[in-house]
Amino acid sequence: MDLFEAIEKRYSYRGEFKPDPLPREHLIEIVEAGIRAPSACNQQVVSFVIVDEPELLEKLAKAIDRPVCHAAKAMIVCVTDPRPVYREMSFAPEDCGAAVENMLLAITALGYATVWLDGALRVEDRAARVGRLLDVPDDKTVAVVLPIGIPVQPGTQRERLPFDQRAWFNRWGAG
Ligand SMILES: Cc1cc2nc3c(=O)[nH]c(=O)nc-3n(C[C@H](O)[C@H](O)[C@H](O)COP(=O)(O)O)c2cc1C
Repeated sequence: MDLFEAIEKRYSYRGEFKPDPLPREHLIEIVEAGIRAPSACNQQVVSFVIVDEPELLEKLAKAIDRPVCHAAKAMIVCVTDPRPVYREMSFAPEDCGAAVENMLLAITALGYATVWLDGALRVEDRAARVGRLLDVPDDKTVAVVLPIGIPVQPGTQRERLPFDQRAWFNRWGAG
């Protein structure tokens, strides 16, 4: 699939997944896309735990408590290292966002669906519970989870504001 087609076709999926397993080659291809994302000072502070063991998936789904996780055939858990990389500043959230977007596009291009779970992890100690299940060290942060599978009812991207309400040439708000 062409890059711009993947950008247009990507959407957040929160429904049921088909029972088909996800081949590891595809999971590796998706995470390779994440690894290829830029990172501040190329410090690569984002790492990935790829979960495809059914029992562990079930435990993760319970900890995250979102319906989409219960049917996921695999989950990619993005873990950030909040250490400063440039003048005492951490860019871990930005690095993580870049890696996640690359993976969302790869997931779309391969015919799967997912949703960027981040806010959902920040309540009820969910991120820490996921970290404990996956042996993530205490000084690292579970930042994003991507539950993946083949969608039973594929959807479309939510509407966006028109270009002229979001972007301008040369001056903010220029007509
Ligand atoms: C930083 C970030 C955090 C998000 N966290 C969640 C989340 O916790 N749960 C969820 O269902 N969707 C989450 N989303 C997905 C957004 O709700 C979704 O991208 C947005 O509504 C636009 O829909 P679309 O992805 O179909 O275009 C998150 C997206 C971003 C970029």
